Parts: sequence; C-alpha cells; structure tokens
Amino acid sequence: MRASIRPVDPQNPDPHLIAHAAAIIRAGGLVAFPTETVYGLGADGLNPAAVARIFEAKERPPTDPLILHIAEPETLLQLVREAPPVALELAHRFWPGPLTLVLPKQPGVPDIVTAGLATVAVRMPAHPVALALIRAARTPIAAPSANRFGRTSPTTARHVQDDLGDRIDLILDAGPTPIGVESTVLDLTRPVPTILRPGGLPREALEGLLGPVAVQTHLAEGPMPSPGLLPKHYAPRAPMILVIGPPPRMRATLRELVARYTAQGHRIGLLIAEEDRAETADLPAETLVLGPEGDLETVARRLYEGLRELDGRDLSLIIARDFGDQGLGLAVRDRLTRAAGGSIIQV
Ligand code: TXA
Ligand code: MG
Repeated sequence: MRASIRPVDPQNPDPHLIAHAAAIIRAGGLVAFPTETVYGLGADGLNPAAVARIFEAKERPPTDPLILHIAEPETLLQLVREAPPVALELAHRFWPGPLTLVLPKQPGVPDIVTAGLATVAVRMPAHPVALALIRAARTPIAAPSANRFGRTSPTTARHVQDDLGDRIDLILDAGPTPIGVESTVLDLTRPVPTILRPGGLPREALEGLLGPVAVQTHLAEGPMPSPGLLPKHYAPRAPMILVIGPPPRMRATLRELVARYTAQGHRIGLLIAEEDRAETADLPAETLVLGPEGDLETVARRLYEGLRELDGRDLSLIIARDFGDQGLGLAVRDRLTRAAGGSIIQV
C-alpha cells in the first residue's frame, strides 16, 4: 500500500476530500492529518481493530496510550467518567488548542486506546482540517503523532510520507503545522494538576487559571507516569549532547566541544540560535539555526524539521543549545533532553 497525499486548504478544507477521508476512518482505515501541533495518525478511536492498526504502523509498544481527538468540548463528557469543574473551565478557556486532558475513562473507551489505564487523554485540536475530519467521521479520532516510534514528530506531510507512507491509506497535506511541538498533556486525576508532557500550551498559561501546576518530567525520580516520557523518545540517528546555561557560557562550551570532538574525528552538527551564529561561524561544523532565542514560537515550529534536517546530513554527533524554561522553551528543552537521551552539560 502506498498512501496518496492529497493537498488540502488549511483554512477551507474541501468537503469532498474530507468526506473521503472520513469514510476511510469509518471503515477502519488510517488517515494522517494536520493538527496545529504536529501531524497525527488517525483511526476510529472507538474501533479497537482500527486502533490496533495505528500501533502496527508506528511500531509503537502497546503500553503507550493514545489521545482521543474530539471536535466539540461536550464530547469530553461521553469519554470520561467524571469531569471536575476545573476540566470544563480548562476546556472552555483553551479548546480548541494544544492542551490534552487526562481524566478517568468511561468503560466504553476501548482498552487498547488507553493501554489498559483507568484514565483517558482527550483533546480538541485547533486545526480546521482536523476539526472537519473529526466531525465528518462522527467518532473521536485516536491519533498519535504520525511518525515511526522513536523518531521525531512530523510537522509536514513529507515527514509522514518518509516514515509511514507505505503503511497508511491517506495523508492530508495542509502544509507545515503552525506550532511544531505536541500538545501539553495535563493530568487532572492527581491532587495537584500535573504536566506529564510540556507542549504547545505553556505552563504559565495553565497557572494563570489553575494556580501552581506540577511538572513531572522524565528526569524526575520514580515510576514513569506516562509511557511517552521515555527518555530516548525523540532521538535523531546521530548521538546528541544538549548544553544548558547562560547564552555566553553555552557559546563558549559549544566552541570547546566542537574542538574536542573534531579532534576525535567527528562530523559535527550544531543546533543553535540566531545569536550564536557569529561566534560559531568559523567552526568546522554543520550549523542549523532554529531562530532568535527570544522568538520561541519560531524555535518550536522549526525544531523537528531542524532535527530531521541534521539527521539527513550524515553527522556523527549533534550538539544543541538550550532555549530556557519559560513559555515554549520548556517544551523545546524537554524534546532536546530526550533527543540527547540525557546527555546534558550544564554550564
Ligand atoms: O499534539 C499532540 O498531542 C499530537 C497531535 C497529533 O494531537 N499527538 C501526540 O500523540 O503527540 P502521541 O501519541 O505521540 O503522544 C501522546 C502522549 C504520550 O506521551 C502518551 O504517553 C500520553 O500522551 N498519554 C496518552 N494517554 C495517557 C494517559 N491516559 N495517561 C497519561 N499519559 C497519556
Ligand atoms: Mg508521539
């Protein structure tokens, strides 16, 4: 099977094309579609056989639960056993948008979706194509990011095709996704609301409504709360080192590391900010500039494309700099930390 890629207007999706895609979903097939965060690999979330195809196509372990995507906030009430008032407030304030809520699940939600957990993750995406598809399919759409397990999430239809093109039925191509990192996953079943995955909705925005919010990162001690938090999750092919610290020190460290590893025969890629350009221009390394350090929207949007781009350049080591922990910086740091598999240098 070879997926057909069909272009679709991101603002005004063609109803005929959407009806065709929805028919594939209803028949138990797989459709990759754009959301505002990354491309998703969609199947009928209430059809266990269809959901099983997602796990097969991605080679995803069955222990890693999926997000159900809905097109009306009220649909949440059909999927969860109880929605505390705060869940409804969050939905009202931030949906459609890059926020996923984890709540106790209704018995009707198939176990394969939640990997046997008693909770289910639900979100209402903000992309017109995603919303049109969910509405036309008349079912919640289970959709992980449309990449092979262990690879970076796709922000273009081309990325989806590279990873999964021979395993799925249709790819809806609406161009690059506007946010570029996945949704923020918020667990509302604990005494303190807890971010299981920092993402497109910054922690500060949640705290404006909820007060203090905990962040359970993959670096925290204890059992993995969310299997998607495996450290080695967004790994590029070449090993990666992440440098964290004040920008002048990060730049000095980038220079030192390039000198040291070049002497060892490495072909090095640098993932940097606009501000690092001048100080790294003379280095024997392939550089990829994500954006200005103050423009985290651009940095986040270009992150996965940047990692894939460096991956294609036959490097033996990638050295990345950090973009702080404010706003989208936290999600960027989380993805870079995982890509580095924990190889972090604090300076
Ligand atoms: O932006 C996004 O969220 C994208 C787009 C396509 O919507 N989807 C996405 O799905 O990133 P996926 O499957 O790649 O990541 C889902 C994350 C994983 O970290 C998973 O472990 C977590 O959500 N998750 C899902 N259900 C959960 C649950 N019941 N409890 C805790 N974590 C859960
Ligand atoms: Mg994923």
